[in-house]
Amino acid sequence: DKVILAFSGGLDTTVCVKLLEEKYNLEVITACVDVGQPKEEIERAKNVAEKLGVTKHITIDAKEEFANEYISRGIKANAVYEGYPLSTALARPLIAIKIIEVGKTENAKAIAHGCTGKGNDQFRFEAVIRSMSDFDIIAPIRELNLTRTEEQDYAKKHGIPLSSDKIYSIDENIWGRSIEGDLLEDPSNEPPEEIYEWTASVQDANNNPEKIAIEFEEGIPIAINGKIMPLIELIALANKIAGKNGVGRIDTIENRMIGLKSREIYEVPGAQLLIAAHQALEELVLTKDELLFAEYMSTKYADLVYNALWQEPLREDIDQSIDHMQRRVGGKVVMKLFKGSIIPLSRESKFSLHDIKHISFEDKENDQKEVEGMIKYHGLQAAIYQKLNR
Ligand code: ARG
Ligand code: SIN
Repeated sequence: DKVILAFSGGLDTTVCVKLLEEKYNLEVITACVDVGQPKEEIERAKNVAEKLGVTKHITIDAKEEFANEYISRGIKANAVYEGYPLSTALARPLIAIKIIEVGKTENAKAIAHGCTGKGNDQFRFEAVIRSMSDFDIIAPIRELNLTRTEEQDYAKKHGIPLSSDKIYSIDENIWGRSIEGDLLEDPSNEPPEEIYEWTASVQDANNNPEKIAIEFEEGIPIAINGKIMPLIELIALANKIAGKNGVGRIDTIENRMIGLKSREIYEVPGAQLLIAAHQALEELVLTKDELLFAEYMSTKYADLVYNALWQEPLREDIDQSIDHMQRRVGGKVVMKLFKGSIIPLSRESKFSLHDIKHISFEDKENDQKEVEGMIKYHGLQAAIYQKLNR
């Protein structure tokens, strides 16, 4: 029988290939879904799979789909869980969907993944596989309760080529980079500078502030500094510009699904910049009530995505409400980046609800005196209550 293994070429999934062959007696097809991890990683996956002698290795380019169907929703929703813009969490459902497609064309019996029993990714993969297919699911690392050291020993014993001696567990896609494990596991350890690849430290960040103009259409960024580009390119550029200005480092204690607290480090410069710009524009074009409700939807949305509930109908319901609201989120914002900070400098939109004439202290046309009646009745119940107290 055939099994499709979601494959990255890292320690977990590399060990999984041999385990699936030896302990589960399956023929292994490895599939690597490209959601914007570095090209070398995609290459590495292919090379490692070849060296392992798998039946077949498949690379699936899902970068554009990830940007256009997943990250775009993350931006419109300002989807952030405990400060983390959900880079891994947004990619997992898409990866699972792509693996299911491979499973069908290859006529496989099962789908396997290399997640441990400690994290969130096992939930995210399996929720999608279970709700979108009838494949058996195999999670060798979790099922055999393997530690990383045991995995390394197993690899050595079986002559499994490990592509690097990277000690951290890193997950990377175009929306963000997460680094965990090894000395980072203990929150009393300071993270070494070398773990960062996308962001400059505040000391090394540009010494002069940088202005960046971002244009939005229906909630989605479409241009940077006047140049229209596809979302995937725009995100790459945002990562670069924000990263060299020291924006986008997160070092947090995250509450995982199974109840564990986990020290997580992220690099999300583009995500932080684009979400900040998006929010700056929303402030101009959405009503007070819309903004309040959008904030609630955002929190709930991020919670669903983080907690492996992409398939929950409420997620789609919220997406539709957000899309409706985002029709007016178009215009231009200029943000200032400087040594890790992001500050809105200016915003303009044809949907602006800001009435310059009305708000101006120079305005004579709207008679100030008319507000007196409103003031008199404002807080009437409080006034009556306080009068009783007196
Ligand atoms: N804690 C983050 C999340 O749940 C990052 C997970 C990273 N995954 C990984 N396999 N390294 O989204
Ligand atoms: C894992 O357990 O495989 C990685 C961490 C996570 O899923 O959150």
